[in-house]
Amino acid sequence: MKRLIALLTTVVVTAVSSAFSSPDATAEEPHHDNVLITYFSRAGENYSVGVVERGNTDLLAEIVAEETGGELFRIETVREYPSAYDEILTVATEERTNKERPELKTSIENFGSYDVIFVGYPIWWGDMPMAMYSFLESYDWNGKTIIPFNTHEGSGQANTVTTIKGICEGAEVMSGFSVRGSVAQNEGESARTIVQNWLDNNNFNKIAEKKEVHYTMQDIRNLQDFLLGRHTEEDLSGKPYDLTGDERWDVFDLCLMKKAYINDTQTIDTTSSATITTDQSAVLETYERFEQAMIDKDIDTLNDLVTADKTFTHMSGKVQTKEEFFGEIADGTLNYYSYKLNSPVVTVDGDTALLTGSTTLEAKVCGASGTWTLKTNLHFIKQDGKWLLTDK
Ligand SMILES: Cc1cc2nc3c(=O)[nH]c(=O)nc-3n(C[C@H](O)[C@H](O)[C@H](O)COP(=O)(O)O)c2cc1C
Repeated sequence: MKRLIALLTTVVVTAVSSAFSSPDATAEEPHHDNVLITYFSRAGENYSVGVVERGNTDLLAEIVAEETGGELFRIETVREYPSAYDEILTVATEERTNKERPELKTSIENFGSYDVIFVGYPIWWGDMPMAMYSFLESYDWNGKTIIPFNTHEGSGQANTVTTIKGICEGAEVMSGFSVRGSVAQNEGESARTIVQNWLDNNNFNKIAEKKEVHYTMQDIRNLQDFLLGRHTEEDLSGKPYDLTGDERWDVFDLCLMKKAYINDTQTIDTTSSATITTDQSAVLETYERFEQAMIDKDIDTLNDLVTADKTFTHMSGKVQTKEEFFGEIADGTLNYYSYKLNSPVVTVDGDTALLTGSTTLEAKVCGASGTWTLKTNLHFIKQDGKWLLTDK
């Protein structure tokens, strides 16, 4: 299920709308923006294939990318592994014995925008290379679908799928597939058939498409109408906000969004710049610096502007710590592009203050973007002469 996750934070209410992608992706050349093929592979001398320019898993990963239309991501370590076969056997044994986590040279940008992630590796000593542990332990796999694939020279998958399930909490880990290294290296078409068969047998396109949601401008208008209570059943059918479908999580989110949406008739007093006090001005400055830091992904500044125990609440009611919320901004799950504060009212009471009004935000959340005007209701506290965002 594409989780149309909208974040209602105590700072902003952000709704999700459009990815603006065409629903008519061509059938011949598959393309899925939300599919990533990650892999680790080593070139050089290897068992059964001699000295090779490209590793066996590397070649297999390319086939997977061609067959799925996903993007490729190579997992690379800072250390360079020896090309000679007898040397790599020794190095791999050492890493395994010492339970090492080799430092990685590459990391995935916009990890949050991928729903289906292939994870590819060779078998080393009946297990994944230790670099795969570094890799898998670096990300939050919650909600992802993982498809393991590997090359080997007799061990098959060994116990690696179970190991991946243990590491990647919250992910759906599929059965995956295995190809002999020598087949991937020398018999590309046989390897391709193995990949195609697995994809067909497991309804891969359905897996990817179920997670990938295409929106049109009309969909966004419909969604806005829904938020304003002007929807019809027809408008809503077939989309993640389908009230009659089984996307209950999304509907729940959207109902909360609707409640939060500014649809009020009350007039908000605008704070006039002529009468603004120093404290009101400082509160507004904290707010503006915070919004700008969200856009800039400036985590240091974000941390600087909130109290130590500040939490952020999801639409669904899920509460995040500031570390979790800022983490999602940093890793690209949440992206903010612009903000505009409308009709602000700052009420200062001693060392506490309340900022009300609305904020128009341009954002991209979990791969879907939109512009939304939503209610702002923020609490501040003055600590050591500095106004910080705080929980109520
Ligand atoms: C250090 C090392 C250990 C290996 N251990 C195993 C093993 O336990 N079982 C097996 O079937 N193949 C094993 N192999 C063979 C590789 O899994 C196989 O050659 C694989 O296709 C290599 O993939 P790559 O070229 O992408 O690195 C090992 C290879 C190396 C280099």
